[in-house]
Amino acid sequence: MTITTTQPERSPGGPPDPRRTAGDRQAPPRWWRRPWVGPLALVVAVFLAMDVPRYLTFDPAESKIPPNPQYPWHYPVLVVHILCGTVAIVTCCLQVWPALRQQYPKVHRVSGRLYVAAGVLPGGLAGLAVAYASPSGLSMQLSTATTSVLWMATAVAGLRMARQGRIADHRRWMVRSFALTLSIVVSRVLGVVYDHTILPPPVTQSVPELIAWGQERAGLASWPGWILPLLIAEWWLVERGAGARHRARQARRTAAAPKA
Ligand code: HEM
Repeated sequence: MTITTTQPERSPGGPPDPRRTAGDRQAPPRWWRRPWVGPLALVVAVFLAMDVPRYLTFDPAESKIPPNPQYPWHYPVLVVHILCGTVAIVTCCLQVWPALRQQYPKVHRVSGRLYVAAGVLPGGLAGLAVAYASPSGLSMQLSTATTSVLWMATAVAGLRMARQGRIADHRRWMVRSFALTLSIVVSRVLGVVYDHTILPPPVTQSVPELIAWGQERAGLASWPGWILPLLIAEWWLVERGAGARHRARQARRTAAAPKA
């Protein structure tokens, strides 16, 4: 019998390598070892329930963002962005669910393709267009245009790595992409925090004052909304890499230690 020591590339907890048999696959981690899965799904569900339904009426009067009269395409493209954003954020939650990833790799692959092709790519292109037409101020426009490009680039990089079988790199790029997908939720939360702390709504009927306040709030919520989750994702990737290397070293030392 030949024993091979070369393992296919596979990061711990990552998508199962198709070259492994079903019997080789690890049992999925228990839910209490991944306590963020439920809260994440809940926060995303609350965000979707609060922000999306008004756009399903396809009535511009229901829009929270006033459609820009200079660009008749603004509202329809905003709706496309929101529908694709919904696909992206729902499939993102499925992709980060370890048990689903490990037990149903086929679902992981289908939902991953939906995430990129029906979520991030059309949602990011539409995001660029709505950023251009947005009445929410230059700071917010620059921030969301940057996020749109990074959002599409990280997802495409992740997809390419998966196709090349570079599973560890695939995971790293997808972690960055998911962090960007969640930026919409983070900026919403920051907006609410500002309302109650540093930037309460002005007590005035003056339209220019209200517009200035809205633009300042949008800009201040938008930049940290994507930079913070991206930094947390990078920190997590570094920590996890360091932890995995440490465990591998320990395992090698234990294996090399003389038996008592
Ligand atoms: C991370 C990449 C994303 C970028 C760059 C982005 C960009 C934008 C931009 C530029 C606007 C217009 C804002 C304005 O004019 O004030 C917008 C609005 C909106 N986006 Fe996104 N978005 C992203 C992800 C998402 C996701 C994942 C969803 C999930 C459904 C989503 C849902 C919405 C909604 C509901 C609005 C309307 C805002 C409101 O009613 O207050 N976006 N987005």
